[in-house]
Amino acid sequence: PLVSMKEMLEKGKENQYAVGQFNLNNMEYAQAILKAAEEEQSPVILGVSEGAAKYMGGFNVVVAMVKALMDSYGTTVPVAIHLDHGSSFEKAAEAIHAGFTSVMIDASHEPLDDNIAITKKVVELAHIHGVSVEAELGRVGGQEDDIIVDDAEAAYAIPSECERLVKETNVDVFAPALGSVHGPYKGEPNLGFDRMEEIMNLVDVPLVLHGGTGIPTNDIQRAISLGSAKINVNTESQMAQADAVRKALDAKPDLYDPRKYLGPGTEAIIETVKGKMREFGSTKQA
Ligand code: G3H
Ligand code: ZN
Repeated sequence: PLVSMKEMLEKGKENQYAVGQFNLNNMEYAQAILKAAEEEQSPVILGVSEGAAKYMGGFNVVVAMVKALMDSYGTTVPVAIHLDHGSSFEKAAEAIHAGFTSVMIDASHEPLDDNIAITKKVVELAHIHGVSVEAELGRVGGQEDDIIVDDAEAAYAIPSECERLVKETNVDVFAPALGSVHGPYKGEPNLGFDRMEEIMNLVDVPLVLHGGTGIPTNDIQRAISLGSAKINVNTESQMAQADAVRKALDAKPDLYDPRKYLGPGTEAIIETVKGKMREFGSTKQA
């Protein structure tokens, strides 16, 4: 069933596992991620960035596609459709009205008071509709779609500000930026675990780890033990798909049927997502 993220993440935090947010880029991602979740009997969050939604034809198209696939697959595991890095109240409202069951409002580039005010407005609307809300403080580095944050701009969230934002906005889930990066890491990730622990002790909502691609298993486990119950992955699925498609096309230069080269790409996404679900501990938790 389609649900918000609230319950699945509270359960994850309580039982020391994380639910993966896997981003959709096109229909093959929706197919692969729903299949992986059902096979693993894992709850799952389908992340949809504004850029990816636009590419697929809009929020309505995404919701209709996901619902139809869940129907035809007979999906039994809990699934959330979540706006990833929502850029404004208007965009979040549009996603909510299109049927998204969860939204992120990312006003992390705004001064704290403005971030709080925008987030609060989104929470008020979302909760009327039973939709969960994720907010962010600090800045995740790297690039996702049009959101580019260079090294100098990337910032670690400040614990006292996190406490204020969570208390004043009533968000369900909170993403403190603590050194994670969108896209591949340059060298080893350097996550701020001391701050993560401090933040976990100051706020009672589950935490989110963005930039899940390329984080070593040890760090994943440590983050989960420090209250991170949602981990976002996009680039790793994209790389696995691209490699498989490239291989299929290279192996047969006269291949042109998209089912024959996208099919192996979809299989590669399924395997990647299943591996993450096992690593995050969400397998068999549906
Ligand atoms: O919001 C989405 C993510 O944080 C994905 O990050 O592409 O580095 O896996 P990633
Ligand atoms: Zn992110």
